[in-house]
Amino acid sequence: MKKMLLAALLLGTAAAPAMANLALAQKNNCLSCHAVDHKVVGPAYKDVAKKYAGDKGAEAKLIAKVKAGGSGVWGPIPMPPNSQVSDADIKTLVKWVLSQK
Ligand code: HEC
Repeated sequence: MKKMLLAALLLGTAAAPAMANLALAQKNNCLSCHAVDHKVVGPAYKDVAKKYAGDKGAEAKLIAKVKAGGSGVWGPIPMPPNSQVSDADIKTLVKWVLSQK
């Protein structure tokens, strides 16, 4: 019983940052077009992470892309610019997207 409680506590702390990032994505409207594990209007964040796995330049590239918007990588539908989102939030969100498995 004690062991289970400890495991739950550990899981709880590990899950907390992920939940915070999900809330940040929600707050910045990303989730109206994206989901973590399935395509909505934009690609699933898991698929984005898979596509750029091992690409060291991906973080900078995606930060610029999220900020300015663009199309053609996943299909003809464009992502509009997210210029209302702060640079710090975009960086956090892109890091989080790239860490999806
Ligand atoms: C109005 C819909 C919409 C919103 C809102 C939106 N996206 Fe997107 N997103 C898209 C579409 C569509 C694409 C695919 C663009 C393409 O094919 O190049 C995309 C692509 C992406 C990609 C991959 C880009 C690439 O070049 O591979 C990332 C990362 C991303 N979005 C993150 C975000 C984040 C973070 C937010 C919130 C700040 C956000 N998106 C908000 C529609 C949206």
